[in-house]
Amino acid sequence: MSESITSVLKEDRRFEPSAEFVSRARISSREEYDRLYKESLDDPETFWRRESSELVFREPWTVTSRTKGGGEPASFPFVEWFVGAKLNVTESCLDRHVKTARRNKAAIIWEGELGATRTITYGELHRETIRFANALAEHGVKKGDRVAIYMGMVPEVAVAMLACARLGAVHTVVFGGFAADALRDRIADCQAKVVITQDGGYRRGHVLALKDVVDKAVSQPEAKSIEKVIVLKHLGDRGPQVHMHEGRDLWWHEIVSDTEAGPAREATPVDAEHPLFILYTSGSTGKPKGVLHSTAGYLVSTHVTFKYVFDIREDDLYWCTADVGWVTGHSYLVYGPLSNGATCMMYEGAPNYPDWGRFWRIIEKHRVTILYTAPTAIRAFLRQGDEWPQKSDLSSLRLLGSVGEPINPEAWMWYFDVIGQKRCPIVDTWWQTETGAIMMSTLPGASFTKPGSTGLPMFGVQPAVVAKDPAAPGGYRRVEANQGGLLILERPWPSMLRTVWGDDDRFVKQYFSEIDGRYFTGDGARCDADGYHWVVGRIDDVLNVAGHRIGTAEIESVLVSHPAVAEAAAVGKPDELKGQALVVFVTVKPGHTPNSTLAEKLGDHVSNEIGKFAKPDQIRFADALPKTRSGKIMRRLLKDVAAGRESKGDTSTLEDLSVLAKLRADEE
Ligand code: PRX
Repeated sequence: MSESITSVLKEDRRFEPSAEFVSRARISSREEYDRLYKESLDDPETFWRRESSELVFREPWTVTSRTKGGGEPASFPFVEWFVGAKLNVTESCLDRHVKTARRNKAAIIWEGELGATRTITYGELHRETIRFANALAEHGVKKGDRVAIYMGMVPEVAVAMLACARLGAVHTVVFGGFAADALRDRIADCQAKVVITQDGGYRRGHVLALKDVVDKAVSQPEAKSIEKVIVLKHLGDRGPQVHMHEGRDLWWHEIVSDTEAGPAREATPVDAEHPLFILYTSGSTGKPKGVLHSTAGYLVSTHVTFKYVFDIREDDLYWCTADVGWVTGHSYLVYGPLSNGATCMMYEGAPNYPDWGRFWRIIEKHRVTILYTAPTAIRAFLRQGDEWPQKSDLSSLRLLGSVGEPINPEAWMWYFDVIGQKRCPIVDTWWQTETGAIMMSTLPGASFTKPGSTGLPMFGVQPAVVAKDPAAPGGYRRVEANQGGLLILERPWPSMLRTVWGDDDRFVKQYFSEIDGRYFTGDGARCDADGYHWVVGRIDDVLNVAGHRIGTAEIESVLVSHPAVAEAAAVGKPDELKGQALVVFVTVKPGHTPNSTLAEKLGDHVSNEIGKFAKPDQIRFADALPKTRSGKIMRRLLKDVAAGRESKGDTSTLEDLSVLAKLRADEE
């Protein structure tokens, strides 16, 4: 892994924000950003005190950061932030707003898949959180207990998370698309005491029987820590029959009382480092890791990044399409927006139900101003053609965001032209479950954007693109501008994960051993002369093409820039002669025929754009690519398909198993 990475993507388009956008932006010049960024590194105390001043602390902090059990400032791996503070995140997210005019402002505007809508004000969200937290307390949930949440995209999922936080209990949200065994494993790992679920939810016109899955999970001996199952009646008569186990299962509406009187009327103050939540993320092998986040550091980072990256204003309607089961749904659907008093759109269902116009109709109907979504969704929409978005009035949009994967310049341009109508800056936000908050992003009013670049570091974040070098101090050196290398973070930041739940050794080994004492992200990247970063993909997926090490994202971007290609995935296959042969899997846009002529054209296209050495050895057409449930292409499985071997390791995160079976059948 010490060799450098060759970066081949040549993208030099840049887009300045409009004068109108800049004139109202929170940060309106590169100089202003540079000044704030410098302050955040040189004088973190002043920076973080000022930037968190609107949040609620019962006791202020005395130490900005320190190494656990050691000196200031913090050094990796075990860190503490804002030491001495006492707080409860719900006071920043709810109580502070209900004392102001925001009391009657919408916190959540919800739309169900069948079209029903609900608006929940800050006053109501505050009240519902207290009522539900009282009920949890009455049924034995105490500070420090773990509570699993297995729900769909309904407003009550936010209530459930906030109610846990109100009591100082630690929530672990498990994505509602996971099967019973995955839920059981997560419950067992953190020894959850209670599961909160719902009778069912809608997804692409089908009813998901969530309570049934919970029954299967908790009936297994591994999940015996569960004492109570709380069930929200969401579908009621339209939903599946729910069997309630006497003594274990409780209906949500039966356990909440009419008044707010009870122990949770006042939030439980906790220490800054008290755990707020555990979120499981699947490694490429082995059991899922329980990423543990703390209270104060997480709140401060999500608050500040949300405010500046999305340039939030009082009258915005902000829509993050991520499921609350992923970190994006935690940080930028719940904690970041609510701590800023923003109004969030929440949509229950699938983007293409009943057709590919659904997202755009939601934007028109509710007048959404900020849209934050993933490249996988953007490519899926692009594939369906411009007619769908063109049927709706998208003039309310003022800012677009992308997260989760490198966005290919082609998809970026489509997002910019067709959805943003050349008017809306795009913030491409790079971060991870482990980082808790956005680490790098283009800042919409401060400077130009470049298609495919995740821009500049966020405040307090010090990224570096490096190569290993045993002779250099620390065992690594920064590579030059535009050279590829390993993306590391050189200093601790407030919202970093504190450990892997129950496994400090795995935490240290996973993140701090590649480059000793520095946080290794697992990604490859390059940084250009403007200081903008370009993520080239996961290091595990870096390809060795004719002696050059190239990130998957770059080859895929070139393929997607061909008019016939909707999506592409590049993987290596063992090859006796070359060591590694380049295999690409491609899905085509409607109206194009996958045949040998097209394959030849695509091969030439890659040769022309990158060089002959990168011409794929094999181009395979597919109807669909295997993806995780959060939409990332699972290249590990494609590598196995390309090599003709069985897939070992975890496939529980694969969204649609039939995709893999189909790819294998095509092989035969
Ligand atoms: O490889 C990077 C990619 O997603 C990884 C983190 O995945 P996860 O923990 O599921 O969190 C996703 C939501 C924050 C990163 O290591 N990634 C995420 N955002 C970007 C990205 N790659 C390129 N550009 C991005 N904007």
